[in-house]
Amino acid sequence: MKKITVLGAGIMGHGVAQLFAQAGYNVWIQARRKSSLEKAEELITNSLKIVVEKEMITQDKMDQTLTNIHYTTDLHEAIQDTDFILESIPEVLETKLDTYEIIESVVSEKTIIASNTSTFPLKDLTQRAKHPERFIITHYFNPPQIVPIVEIARFEKTDENVVKTTYNLMKEIGKSPVVLKKEITGFIVNRVQVAFLRECFHLIEQGVCTAEDIDIAVKGSMGFKWAFCGPMESQDLAGLQTTQAMVHNIEQDLSNTREVPVFLKDMVEKGEYGIRSNKGFYEYDDNGAKAIFTRDDNFLELLKLIQDKEAKKKETASAAK
Ligand SMILES: NC(=O)c1ccc[n+]([C@@H]2O[C@H](COP(=O)([O-])OP(=O)(O)OC[C@H]3O[C@@H](n4cnc5c(N)ncnc54)[C@H](O)[C@@H]3O)[C@@H](O)[C@H]2O)c1
Repeated sequence: MKKITVLGAGIMGHGVAQLFAQAGYNVWIQARRKSSLEKAEELITNSLKIVVEKEMITQDKMDQTLTNIHYTTDLHEAIQDTDFILESIPEVLETKLDTYEIIESVVSEKTIIASNTSTFPLKDLTQRAKHPERFIITHYFNPPQIVPIVEIARFEKTDENVVKTTYNLMKEIGKSPVVLKKEITGFIVNRVQVAFLRECFHLIEQGVCTAEDIDIAVKGSMGFKWAFCGPMESQDLAGLQTTQAMVHNIEQDLSNTREVPVFLKDMVEKGEYGIRSNKGFYEYDDNGAKAIFTRDDNFLELLKLIQDKEAKKKETASAAK
């Protein structure tokens, strides 16, 4: 692939552009406002600086990565002769459909169009498409330049070669892609996350614990284990009779609400959005700058550990051949 395009320079777009550029691709990132692109450039530069400080890449690699990224407000310039487009604009169906219409009037039939949508099925995203077979979903996680997983969702019209090419591209940029066998709302991770959050919210509503207690309990238990030992592997290690008893004894007592909790609606109504408004479950005084720095610093340490372990595994496997 000679050219890759990322549409949208927000929370997700800038991180994905960084990923492609780090892997050596020429990336065009497009947003409608120059200020969004300037912010994206600043975020990418700061993110790369930390990666250099942690000796995960060299200064030369950082410089090369930065020269691989081209910023533009011109959609046509961004998509002209491109091979792969990652659409990461706001989660508004009409906006996405309008953008796809323009894209399809400019690019060749071979260009793959991937969406980073969190919620829309491909059936909806392709309702006006001339070539639905080139559409696919690549769902990243924030911060996408660090979190290893990308969920890939296809539908019955997606061409098999589009799936293969996208899968290989994700591997090449260092991701661990998971291809869903069926398209389903929320894919894997957000479904599990929402089911999990429902119970967290229920515990807070019932006065069992505070939001902070939940963070402490989860970080020190599932959070600690799951990067190396997933929930299914953990059950094998615990013994499936114990899992059966635990599910049987607790399941009937869990929340099965289908409503967003009232306290969450109230928080949003009061403008308590989290870092964006300096107040959510916690309070901030810098729009979360310190929290984001600490999060990324910790995540990079973890990523480095995972990458080192993978490299050692490969070395051992090739030495054994
Ligand atoms: N934020 C997350 O944690 C997350 C995780 C996974 C997937 N997603 C998905 O990624 C997509 C983008 O989310 P985000 O959080 O980065 O949003 P965001 O609001 O931070 O960024 C969106 C960007 O798109 C730009 N934009 C708006 N309209 C545009 C248009 N017509 N053409 C080009 N650019 C346009 C905005 O200026 C902004 O730079 C959404 O589909 C979202 O559901 C978000």
